[in-house]
Amino acid sequence: MQSIVSDSYAVHFENRAFEALNSHLNSQNYSTIFILVDENTHELCLPQFMSEIEGEYTFEIIEIESGEVNKTIETCVGVWEALSELGADRKSLMINLGGGVLTDLGGFVASTFKRGINFINVPTTLLSMVDASVGGKTGVDLGPLKNQIGVINQPEMVLIVSDFLETLNERQITSGFAEMLKHGLIKNAGYWESLKKVSSLNEIKHHIRPSVALKNEVVLQDPTEQNIRKILNYGHTLGHAIESYFLENESKETLLHGEAIAIGMITEGYLSYKLTGLAKDALVNIKSTFLKYYPKVDFTDKDILDILELLKYDKKNSHGNINFVLLKQIGETQIDVTISSDLFHEAFAYYME
Ligand SMILES: NC(=O)c1ccc[n+]([C@@H]2O[C@H](COP(=O)([O-])OP(=O)(O)OC[C@H]3O[C@@H](n4cnc5c(N)ncnc54)[C@H](O)[C@@H]3O)[C@@H](O)[C@H]2O)c1
Ligand SMILES: [Zn+2]
Repeated sequence: MQSIVSDSYAVHFENRAFEALNSHLNSQNYSTIFILVDENTHELCLPQFMSEIEGEYTFEIIEIESGEVNKTIETCVGVWEALSELGADRKSLMINLGGGVLTDLGGFVASTFKRGINFINVPTTLLSMVDASVGGKTGVDLGPLKNQIGVINQPEMVLIVSDFLETLNERQITSGFAEMLKHGLIKNAGYWESLKKVSSLNEIKHHIRPSVALKNEVVLQDPTEQNIRKILNYGHTLGHAIESYFLENESKETLLHGEAIAIGMITEGYLSYKLTGLAKDALVNIKSTFLKYYPKVDFTDKDILDILELLKYDKKNSHGNINFVLLKQIGETQIDVTISSDLFHEAFAYYME
């Protein structure tokens, strides 16, 4: 499968992925190769990964604990200390082998250790393959607030090997699928329609490359998110606030990232219907599609008020305004829409009705 070229790096797929990695390692003379894993990818992905490496290199494995609750600066400190104790220098390489939590955190650790060492992303969840590992956004949460600390910095390469998905559970696959549906909603109505027909992991695998290509096309136009890149945040303004709220609230079951943004895409769909001309039947199409995959969550009035309170920390805000990306129609967006709070309550009411 043909690689996708971004500005300073390439995304390689399937057979081509390990070929590209082996030739890169062979050409670079890295002092030590650090592989960052969590307990799941250590057990389930590392053996296959190591079996594909040709040549003799010095490897060190660093393991972190999985889960969004560990996407923190404290975990970074642990990894920085491990790098330091294991003698990492500026000619070291970090390979991030894991889901979006791990690639976000590992990219940030590598980008800041000794002012930056090279890193390679090897995503092992659907979500990190189609979204998190590509585009250079790295970072961690600040308390419950999502991705407040971080830098944009590109990897040396991204390697997508869909075999890794064989051990991922269905809930995690469905979570990643939400970002793919988002790609259709923001940029390609035909892609949205074809995703709606997908019914097996094998069919999903065939859509990974188109999703990466679509994201890459947007990122290339605006790497630092001054304008067009904002469209990738569709569903994420309310979605991140919802995710944070559930993360922080011990009495609530945690929502996965994709599950939270699915709710964000329905509620922001409602805002789009009210403000940017999204047709009613398109809104109904969006709601029924997401509810097919993501069970409805109940929100009390207090939940909604607390979630809205979290909106003020959204990274797209400026000058005290909360900025949304909304849909004009399926496949077309409008950025920088500011919204008054009454409509948010209506949007949640629409989601729950
Ligand atoms: N940087 C970006 O542009 C960007 C884009 C989208 C999402 N994100 C971030 O990505 C994160 C979510 O990523 P995620 O959904 O991959 O979650 P995750 O990294 O928490 O992975 C989900 C779970 O699957 C396990 N796992 C990973 N690979 C596995 C495999 N092959 N088999 C079995 N288990 C496996 C992990 O250990 C973890 O328990 C969020 O923090 C989100 O903010 C970042
Ligand atoms: Zn996302």
